[in-house]
Amino acid sequence: MDLPLLGRGRTADVYDLGDGRVLRRYREPRPALVQREVTAMQALRAAGAPVPKVFDSNDTDIVMEKVRGRAMLDELKVRPWRAGRLGRQLGEMHLAVLQVVTEPLDLPVAADGSTVLHLDYHPGNVMVDGSGAMVIDWTNAGLGPAGLDVAMTWMLMATSDVDDVPRLLRPFVRRLRGRVVAEYLAATSVVDPLPYVREACRRRLEDPETRPEEKVSVRAFEAATAPAPGAPA
Ligand SMILES: Nc1ncnc2c1ncn2[C@@H]1O[C@H](COP(=O)(O)OP(=O)(O)O)[C@@H](O)[C@H]1O
Ligand SMILES: [Mg+2]
Repeated sequence: MDLPLLGRGRTADVYDLGDGRVLRRYREPRPALVQREVTAMQALRAAGAPVPKVFDSNDTDIVMEKVRGRAMLDELKVRPWRAGRLGRQLGEMHLAVLQVVTEPLDLPVAADGSTVLHLDYHPGNVMVDGSGAMVIDWTNAGLGPAGLDVAMTWMLMATSDVDDVPRLLRPFVRRLRGRVVAEYLAATSVVDPLPYVREACRRRLEDPETRPEEKVSVRAFEAATAPAPGAPA
């Protein structure tokens, strides 16, 4: 492909098609994944949620609206002093998306509940520009209780590794991350993630893409936030 590459993920590549459109192409045909992503995006978009418009799709490809700006994760790298405000924006937007009511959708059921969940909602999957934000990467979309999605985000942020950061900067990055997480949780406080921490960790531990070091962090997070039933408080 000669088109400019915007992003290269675990299973798909994202190209700029020009004309305000991008192509998200799976390297192998993944009709069920494409279907899931498109179903969630179209329903949420129709309900007014900040999700890119889908123009076309087939077994490997989704053509969608190109979002302006950069991933919130990259914004945090260039404007770290905005961590608190970005964390709040992350939480407010998540809450708005979790409040969307749709017609019954054909999506995998993650747990008991009918809310459309993203299940990979973190600062790498939220694009921000001066005027607003959009949620991308709906590959894991499913149905369930809102608390599970907040628990996933909390766990993903708290356990993401900082190995790609120079050692001397790691304490600084951890402190920034702490600010983002604290503001995110404050902004979503009407949803209780605690009952779902165990399930969120289980999903992360079962994901074949999760690396051994990350599994150690996930287990530590689970032990710290969701003590085993019957364990002393
Ligand atoms: N609709 C879009 N508009 C602009 N850039 C996009 C869009 N979708 C994806 N991208 C770019 O491609 C990157 C990867 O996309 P994403 O859907 O998150 O897939 P993955 O995480 O699997 O690589 C994003 O970080 C972003 O830079
Ligand atoms: Mg992504």
